[in-house]
Amino acid sequence: MAKTDLMDRIVNLAKRRGLVFPSSDIYGGFRSTWDYGPLGVLLKRNVKEAWWRSMVQMREDIVGLDAAILMAPRVWEASGHIDTFTDPLVDCKQCKERFRADQLPESGACPKCGTKGSFTEARQFNLMFKTFVGPVEDAASIAYLRPETAQGIFVNYANVQTTMRRKPPFGIAQVGKSFRNEITPGNFVYRTREFEQMEMEFFVPPEDGEKWFKYWCDERMSWYTDLGIAPDTLRLRQHETSELSHYSSGTADVEFMYPWGWGELEGVANRGDYDLRKHAEFSGQDLSYFDQEKDLRYVPHVIEPAAGADRATLAFLLSAYSEEEVETAAGKTETRTVLRLDPRLAPIKVAVLPLSKNEQLVPVSAEIASALRPHWMIDVDVSGSIGRRYRRQDEVGTPLCVTVDFETLEDRCVTIRERDSMAQERVAIADLVAWLRDRLPL
Ligand code: GAP
Repeated sequence: MAKTDLMDRIVNLAKRRGLVFPSSDIYGGFRSTWDYGPLGVLLKRNVKEAWWRSMVQMREDIVGLDAAILMAPRVWEASGHIDTFTDPLVDCKQCKERFRADQLPESGACPKCGTKGSFTEARQFNLMFKTFVGPVEDAASIAYLRPETAQGIFVNYANVQTTMRRKPPFGIAQVGKSFRNEITPGNFVYRTREFEQMEMEFFVPPEDGEKWFKYWCDERMSWYTDLGIAPDTLRLRQHETSELSHYSSGTADVEFMYPWGWGELEGVANRGDYDLRKHAEFSGQDLSYFDQEKDLRYVPHVIEPAAGADRATLAFLLSAYSEEEVETAAGKTETRTVLRLDPRLAPIKVAVLPLSKNEQLVPVSAEIASALRPHWMIDVDVSGSIGRRYRRQDEVGTPLCVTVDFETLEDRCVTIRERDSMAQERVAIADLVAWLRDRLPL
């Protein structure tokens, strides 16, 4: 399948099957914003949950946080965002369209109207969304929607370190919305103006920065491959010095091979002591750490793996999508679309399907559904042929289907059909929860 086709198919499947809808759809959409539908919200929650599990739950050296989106404007002065979080922007004098100066074609022609040499001088455009806090709209009430979750972590460093009695190396993890007034959003949920980040700031003694930077690059690559991204579609790219953000002394991007080429999934940055030093300077608070064992005071250095929940969700979707020729019960061949999602990410874990709408089968299905619902997200589907219902579940990545047939009424067993192999196995209803638990990892 051509790569551009793959993207079209994903966008189409996402809309058709309730994964992702264009935002404000009934009004014709709204500028590259997207809404996660009933299955999409489950998928993205599972991505975030997998991240949280590996970054917080499974580690003794990382704790969580959920900071406010609106923060004191001084935070953004200290962080450097007010001065330096900008993109160079030009206007076409002919068609009035705006472009990023660093993304213009070499020909010098306007990408929209084709006029050559029609651009204004580049000027810096700050990507932060501004708003006003309170009833008065004046300079004193300006606030910003956070452009990254990281600053909420830095300003809480001392609160967390003291209340949780932590000693570097330790980390603080956070998942939440961020906002950037991107000039050129696009590629579905890859680049949007409102998105979700999964960021962790790992505070370390200065001399250990390089060691932990390498450690987190490896850890983060493994997280993606462990959840189903093929290693040959993933790479770690070290930034050139000219690419480094204002705070970074070293950054590597985890990149994924999207249909349009390599694109950033996550950045792992060695931020040095930039953030804590700046916040100490602007707030007047001491953010250094005193190591009693070494009788040494220092400002911790920070290693930051910063991932995007939407980009990761898209990468998992693209990696999982497959079409294959299969033989139907009638001996014909047809194309089966399957999302081979890792079961941990699949929106629905188990579908319960009575063979038909028969009045004896439907109540047994309902009874099984009630028994499974406390454990997993399940779906009950009664309409259409059983073959079509299997296809519908394959298309949204449901790992297991439980079919209730007429034999069930006799032997209290069900048929379980596995998504990828389509292999079937008969299991007693009494053993069903234990059987599924063995096959649906957390
Ligand atoms: N605190 C560091 C930081 O924010 P970043 O590389 O600008 O670093 C981290 O952002 C991740 O957030 C990116 O790798 C990407 O996955 C996600 N991200 C950034 N901008 C985004 C956007 N406009 N739309 C969707 N995701 C975005």
